[in-house]
Amino acid sequence: MKEIILKKFAEVYGSAEGARAFFAPGRVNLIGEHTDYNGGHVFPCALTIGTYAAAKKREDRKLRFFSMNFEHLGVIESSLDDLVQRREAGWTNYPKGVMWAFGERGYEIPCGMDILLNGNIPNGSGLSSSASVEVVTGYILNELFGFGVSNQDLALIGQFSENNFNGVNCGIMDQFAIAMGKKDNAIFLDTADLSYEYAPIKLEGAKIVISCSNKKRGLGSSKYNERREECETALSEIQQGMGINTLGDLTEKQFEEVKMAIKDEDRRKRAKHAVYENQRTIKAVEALKANDIALFGKLMNESHVSLRDDYEVTGEELDTLVEAAWKVDGVIGSRMTGAGFGGCTVSIVREEAVDEFIRTVGETYKAAIGYAADFYVVEIGSGPCEL
Ligand code: GLA
Repeated sequence: MKEIILKKFAEVYGSAEGARAFFAPGRVNLIGEHTDYNGGHVFPCALTIGTYAAAKKREDRKLRFFSMNFEHLGVIESSLDDLVQRREAGWTNYPKGVMWAFGERGYEIPCGMDILLNGNIPNGSGLSSSASVEVVTGYILNELFGFGVSNQDLALIGQFSENNFNGVNCGIMDQFAIAMGKKDNAIFLDTADLSYEYAPIKLEGAKIVISCSNKKRGLGSSKYNERREECETALSEIQQGMGINTLGDLTEKQFEEVKMAIKDEDRRKRAKHAVYENQRTIKAVEALKANDIALFGKLMNESHVSLRDDYEVTGEELDTLVEAAWKVDGVIGSRMTGAGFGGCTVSIVREEAVDEFIRTVGETYKAAIGYAADFYVVEIGSGPCEL
């Protein structure tokens, strides 16, 4: 891939002399959904697919961007003096947001850059193509200008830019999973204090299969921010009678005791999901450590039911994929992954059942929804690097 992007870089910008090549992965979350802005646990891993980038410093303050995924847009120009979110700037709002966020942190970017990207994460699929672009941009700035920012801080800067430049109130999971990824490991992260632990994923002959619904999802326009607000309101209602900091502080039993403090029924369901999903994630990691893959899969299935019935972020496409998956012999667990409202599902499937899985889930989906789903058997990869 390095040769491909450097060759294209030379074609687009005249020469690739002095250009450097980088990579940041995408991510998939195995369990712990919509818990990361509720002080709960998540369990994502980085993938071997992601965003490739070539970058080179300029003498002036100009920024030039080119994406091989959006070739028809050509070179998009901007400048370090114009780091402002603009609708018409399209995908370049992500790298520009990170440059802006570096500035907010006191890192002064001394000169402009020519940047070229080529991603192999299906975009809008819920595998964090945007967080991958954010982290690769942060990594480029760090390497080109020697800022010495840690990978964990690259994650926080990426999230800060997404929240404050691009207006999506996302949690820390995606950027953290990408910046801190470790081959063959998932990251058990406590979002309350960012303490984390790597857990080797030994699936004993099973594979991680991503089913992509091909229903596009724009986080900004979705109900993501609305869910977050519902949880915040529910928390403040509980806090009137109990000293907790986040919904992640509650056990299921404690929640059942205080839940009537939440006035609205829908809001109560949202908070229930946040509490139960967090506890499920803790149990799932224990199950994995005890080599109980069957229990891990069962908890994944329960996670989906909770996201469908209580959090209400699945929708017909994701439900069709998951419910079809549950019927296939050799499926250990299956659930939606990421924000929901379209995007992907993640399934743990015994190796010998993978072909049958793709065939039957694919057929059921096409018949019910009217267009095809895509399937990817993925591997767990590492965090960002220079190529
Ligand atoms: C999106 C957000 C994450 C997280 C998930 C849901 O991917 O970016 O922070 O909230 O949704 O678990």
